[in-house]
Amino acid sequence: MSEPIVKIAGLHKAFGDLEVLKGVDVSIREGEVVCLIGPSGSGKSTLLRCVNMLEEPTQGTVEAAGHSMTDPDVDIDAARRDIGMVFQQFNLFSHLSILDNIVLPQRRVLGRGKAEAVANARRQLEAVGVEGKEKAKPAQLSGGQQQRVAIARALAMGPRLMLFDEPTSALDPELVGEVLHVMRRLADEGMTMIVVTHEMDFAKEVADRVLFLSDGVICEQGPPADVLTDPKTERAKGFLHRVLHPAD
Ligand SMILES: Nc1ncnc2c1ncn2[C@@H]1O[C@H](COP(=O)(O)OP(=O)(O)O)[C@@H](O)[C@H]1O
Ligand SMILES: [Mg+2]
Repeated sequence: MSEPIVKIAGLHKAFGDLEVLKGVDVSIREGEVVCLIGPSGSGKSTLLRCVNMLEEPTQGTVEAAGHSMTDPDVDIDAARRDIGMVFQQFNLFSHLSILDNIVLPQRRVLGRGKAEAVANARRQLEAVGVEGKEKAKPAQLSGGQQQRVAIARALAMGPRLMLFDEPTSALDPELVGEVLHVMRRLADEGMTMIVVTHEMDFAKEVADRVLFLSDGVICEQGPPADVLTDPKTERAKGFLHRVLHPAD
């Protein structure tokens, strides 16, 4: 068994008096796709953000993509190169063209030459199915296209691990599928992924493992067929019922 690519141990995170994460332990192996589910406010985003130190844990250790993230001496820039993140709100630079959104990080962070960065950007755009839009500004694209560009931007950096925080929650329903399609292909190609999502069909079909976060701890986890169709805890049962049958 190889070393896990993500190892979270005894993770606590508080914002002032509000204790959001109360002792989370997770190991993820290379190539694994983990979907993180749970009620709004349960700490899903906080947990994800602790993996790449966008939030600093109050207590505990995080290792990710070969970096000891919680070590005070960690080279955080090097670590973040290896860990891509995709947000609900795309976070593209609105004043830059689509191509420059993907080219500039490669040049600034990786020091790549222009020709190489441009060639790579075009490859990544083609891979996510957004071609012919290189000169457009983000606002000229649909939400689904913008999110696919955000994924292309992250992949252009050559990450070993990808974090997704509700990547389809800001999209009109008819645009969700095209983004999930890109993520599914990435999973098929062997990328290690942690995905916060409410898309239960995606979780069922693509995840190797589902984690249910509630009250600051992972209160249930396992293969999607177990957690999503036959939850054991009352909390998971209640949550899944509310997600799957919102009108009840
Ligand atoms: N920067 C912050 N400062 C204070 N409270 C925060 C901050 N970020 C998140 N929280 C709080 O932590 C809790 C968990 O938030 P979050 O991780 O965003 O939950 P989720 O993603 O599961 O909806 C919420 O109560 C939220 O208000
Ligand atoms: Mg969130």
